[in-house]
Amino acid sequence: MPPIIRKLCGCVVAALILGVVVQTCARAYTGSQVTAWQDEYRHQAAIPFPDDNPYSAAKADLGRSLFFDPILSGSRSTSCTSCHNPGLSWGDGLARATGDGGAAMALRAPTLLNVAWTLVLGWDGKFRNVEAVTFAAISGPIIMNLPEAEAIERLAEIPGYVRAFADVFGDGRITRQNIEFALATYERTIVSAPASFDRWIGGDEEAISPAAKRGSTLFTGKAGCSGCHNGWAFTDGSFHDIGTARGDDIGRGRQFPTSLKLRFAFKVPTLRDVARRAPYMHDGSVPTLEGVVDLYNRGGVERPSRSLEIRRLGLTANERVDLIAFLRTLTSDPVHVLVPILPRGVKIAVD
Ligand code: HEC
Ligand code: HEC
Repeated sequence: MPPIIRKLCGCVVAALILGVVVQTCARAYTGSQVTAWQDEYRHQAAIPFPDDNPYSAAKADLGRSLFFDPILSGSRSTSCTSCHNPGLSWGDGLARATGDGGAAMALRAPTLLNVAWTLVLGWDGKFRNVEAVTFAAISGPIIMNLPEAEAIERLAEIPGYVRAFADVFGDGRITRQNIEFALATYERTIVSAPASFDRWIGGDEEAISPAAKRGSTLFTGKAGCSGCHNGWAFTDGSFHDIGTARGDDIGRGRQFPTSLKLRFAFKVPTLRDVARRAPYMHDGSVPTLEGVVDLYNRGGVERPSRSLEIRRLGLTANERVDLIAFLRTLTSDPVHVLVPILPRGVKIAVD
């Protein structure tokens, strides 16, 4: 077997304030491609939980109930699952999410698959960790529209929740932080299942089609996709302008107003299970995977902020078909998601 020659070209690592790292790495592979994929893309088994919020099964169970419970919205009709629906790959299948009360948000609901590995969250990276998203969602007027105090009060009226918080947490209380900890623990268990791609890099040559294999070569080579979609979840967690947004929809540029390159930059999303998540992009502006590949082939909107890796690709019609065949190999077999029976019951006094 010839040695793998991996070229790491043009790697720019810019450490920004807040310790956030943006990486732009273009990679090209020659030699045994399967072995190269194995090195970098092997499915991760162990979920990383932070030291200040370690895993426990009881905490994840409580988080699951909170995640499915519409009681955490002003109208009592919107739950996290309204927009992060397990049946729709933890998104909602809409171009723009619809909040409690029916107003459309400016953004598409991202999948929650593999959030345990995500460094900063939100399309523009405004959230420092999974916990930090919780009350932005619950109390956000156009998201779930329930003030924190009322959320705590409603949970405290339900004996099943009172017991669950008492069992799970040392202080036994229903607090903002404990709600964040429970929900985040459950969210971190949302992990994409292995796909035919994983069977292929595991050594089963028959697991994916010849077209998909040609597509894999394009993915890391001519099409340059692995410059940003790399690692087992097919994202390096960085932010780029790929030529999608326009106007005042400047994404990460809002957090870093002086950075030219972060204008119109959005987070590189995971490509695991991507075929299940149309429409695509932060604004749901691209309806199909064919449309996504056409966009990259054209190179998106040309402007100073656009990533240097985004350019006209000159892919033939057959190459575009191959690339899509490859993207489809990242879709896992269907998995069963446990739906909780939500605690309800008589009002009790809480001291
Ligand atoms: C009305 C739709 C809606 C509801 C309800 C909703 N979300 Fe979201 N969620 C979104 C949108 C839109 C974003 C993207 C926000 C951004 O980028 O600023 C998002 C982003 C997230 C993210 C960041 C994901 C990532 O990879 O960056 C997490 C985590 C999350 N939501 C968790 C939750 C939880 C937990 C709840 C329930 C408490 C919830 N969401 C309820 C629409 C919703
Ligand atoms: C310079 C980094 C970069 C490169 C190179 C790149 N992408 Fe992306 N990709 C992104 C970013 C950033 C987004 C999100 C943009 C947005 O939401 O507006 C994205 C979004 C996507 C999406 C939509 C996923 C979703 O859930 O909405 C797909 C599919 C995708 N890319 C596939 C590809 C393919 C195929 C290639 C190669 C032709 C490629 N990408 C090359 C950074 C990149």
